[in-house]
Amino acid sequence: MGQLIVVGAQWGDEGKGKVVDLLTDFSDAVVRYQGGANAGHTLIVDKKKVVLHMIPSGILHSNVVCMIANGVVLDPELLIEEIDMLVSGGVEVNRENLRISNAAHIILPYHKLLDRYREEKRSKKIGTTQRGIGPAYEDKITRRGVRFQDFLDKARFDQLLQQNLEYYNFMFENYFKKGTLKIEELIEKFDYYRDRLSIFQENTSWLLHQYLSKGRKVLFEGAQGTLLDIDHGTYPYVTSSNTTTGGALTGCGIGPHKNISVLGICKAYTTRVGEGPFPTELNDDLGIKLRTEGGEFGATTGRARRVGWLDVVALKYAIRINSITSIALTKLDILSSLDEIKICTSYSYNGEKLAYFPNDSLMLSKVECEYQDCEGWNVPIGDIKTFSDLPENAKRYIELLETLLEIPIEIISLGPDRDKTIVRNHPFH
Ligand code: IMP
Repeated sequence: MGQLIVVGAQWGDEGKGKVVDLLTDFSDAVVRYQGGANAGHTLIVDKKKVVLHMIPSGILHSNVVCMIANGVVLDPELLIEEIDMLVSGGVEVNRENLRISNAAHIILPYHKLLDRYREEKRSKKIGTTQRGIGPAYEDKITRRGVRFQDFLDKARFDQLLQQNLEYYNFMFENYFKKGTLKIEELIEKFDYYRDRLSIFQENTSWLLHQYLSKGRKVLFEGAQGTLLDIDHGTYPYVTSSNTTTGGALTGCGIGPHKNISVLGICKAYTTRVGEGPFPTELNDDLGIKLRTEGGEFGATTGRARRVGWLDVVALKYAIRINSITSIALTKLDILSSLDEIKICTSYSYNGEKLAYFPNDSLMLSKVECEYQDCEGWNVPIGDIKTFSDLPENAKRYIELLETLLEIPIEIISLGPDRDKTIVRNHPFH
């Protein structure tokens, strides 16, 4: 197996960072293909916590090239902060291990302001991360966007900025009744960012083809999750990119190569941040317990995550939409103190069983869940290294899931550290 796409199978925060970091040991390149600094991939290495928002998790490994591909919306200010954080922690970041697509779009200060002002004005909030993601993708689609290659050319950038600020300042002043942005201040800041970031520019689609044609191992690292996909998620409570396998292909300029497998990352329960339907949500003490024990607070915004039972209807949808070939199940250890664990196996709407996950958020907010009960195992499992050493009830839980999902669970994560992982079948072997 040569290439592996890693996608979130739920609403994000499934633990993709840890799994990608683990698989990077076997990769030549790691590519981030969509989203921006709205993501927060938390890694625990040598007991130290590292949170990455834009740089692929592979940066912590030597001899791995990390690419930020064209599908990403890049915040230069936050990227520099991230680079400086890594460098001060002893991680080298240079052209040898980081390349940025010259076709990736840049997030500008007006995108972040617009994200915030819109969210303030909305009566029905989306709960965005306010990192300017939606407005930056919007500019890309309306062809007003500024790409990394435009930003690297000062004359071109200053002219685009002038043009765009006219539009944004008009909107800030007249529609939102807010102050305007001064072009001189932006130009000065972005001159500095240009000096820092120009060494990383690359035609990443071309570079990637060199890797693929030589049969080298490439890991495609997704951000957010399937149910936040702009087309296939719980619209409008979604992010503004394609978080699914299709997004990986357009997001880095490759076709559906025959050697690509898709690993879905799935937490042993479900969480979501922000607003929107969540059929298996637990609005009770058990939800609070799982949130506390699972440390379910956003890595980017610190917001408390909403928590619920595992939802097989949603997972089967994610498997279908992404062509997921196997699953990495994370945070199984968090269920260890429960006497009984529930899995949602079907939805009904107006008394009728639904054949599939509905693509209407209003309908989804009204479905009733049917659950299958599993007995808990009630012992800590964090230090277990093999599947056969897991308590019988934990094995049964995993086997039941495999039966329901009809694909294998190849990786089981039992804690944030790299060594707290059971690899039953390595996706790169
Ligand atoms: P945006 O991506 O900032 O526009 O936010 C849109 C929705 O996606 C909000 O509900 C966010 O909470 C959610 N979201 C964005 N990024 C992430 C993530 O990395 N994990 C989980 N939820 C996210």
